[in-house]
Amino acid sequence: MFGLNVKQAIYAWYQKNGRHDLPWRQTEEAYHIYLSEIMLQQTQVKTVLERFYFPFLERFPTLKSVAEAPLDAVLKMWEGLGYYTRAKNLHHTAITCNGILPRHPEELGGLKGIGKSTAHAICTFAHHEALPILDANVKRVLCRYFALSVKDEKVLWEKAWELLHVKHPYEHNQAMMDIGAMICTPKNPNCLECPLSFTCKGKEAPENYPLPVKKVKVPTKQRVALVILKEGKLGLIQRKERLLHGLWGFMQVDVRPGNAESLGKVTHTYSHFKLELEAVICKDLHVNVDGYFTDDQIAKLALSTVDKKILRLPAMMGNISPTS
Ligand code: ADE
Repeated sequence: MFGLNVKQAIYAWYQKNGRHDLPWRQTEEAYHIYLSEIMLQQTQVKTVLERFYFPFLERFPTLKSVAEAPLDAVLKMWEGLGYYTRAKNLHHTAITCNGILPRHPEELGGLKGIGKSTAHAICTFAHHEALPILDANVKRVLCRYFALSVKDEKVLWEKAWELLHVKHPYEHNQAMMDIGAMICTPKNPNCLECPLSFTCKGKEAPENYPLPVKKVKVPTKQRVALVILKEGKLGLIQRKERLLHGLWGFMQVDVRPGNAESLGKVTHTYSHFKLELEAVICKDLHVNVDGYFTDDQIAKLALSTVDKKILRLPAMMGNISPTS
């Protein structure tokens, strides 16, 4: 068992060095905290802070306003943030709980898109409940501190509970996140500045905890995006597939149609593959799209990043009518 020392050291470190000014640390509003946790799941603090958190809250000041909005409007505010399932789950959850998040961690964890760690984060940051969190950064800190070579969920939860400062769970959990992000980084951890280093079992060889797993190289897919123009309007489809469901974009095919003229290439890396997309325009190609849009109308749709890259190709300039 631990003495209070390491817990106190973490607490004192947070008081002095924590990122207290992050806006989701200046509120006890569960919806704001929930939103930040979801945005931060796969996106860096800087991006969320500079481009997404405030505009989203301005457009949707309450969870009830999310519940009352169409999914398209929520996706529009998520545009460019990626991993759109997060936005769909947020919308779904807002409707399910009718704009009021439950307080109980088990009930929260049963909602779409809220796992155990996120449920604990909401409860600890909004209501100061003594529950540990276990996101990717915290897992690394725990693996190193306890010299664990493999990331075993069950063991990590036990260790997270063991280390939790039950008197100051809020500060403890925020500190663990900050230490993971700023000190116990994947490469070159700064053990000299770390409040856990005194009793850290892994500090002699932090690179071994956890042992690196061989990264599989992501495959590259090559596809063709069809730029379909009719009377100055652009033909787009609303995506049905899982990854980008609900977003608007160019119709894609595997093979370049005959008499296609290239407008340029764009690339985008997703979590499981890299996409190389050649945009082509074809004369006399009859395909069914879900709608035709002017520039003004396109600006109101939620498009994925790769489709926006196509819109910005120099060869696209001046092709689409500004207004109807
Ligand atoms: N990542 C997830 N939750 C966070 C928080 N509360 N502060 C900073 N980064 C985070």
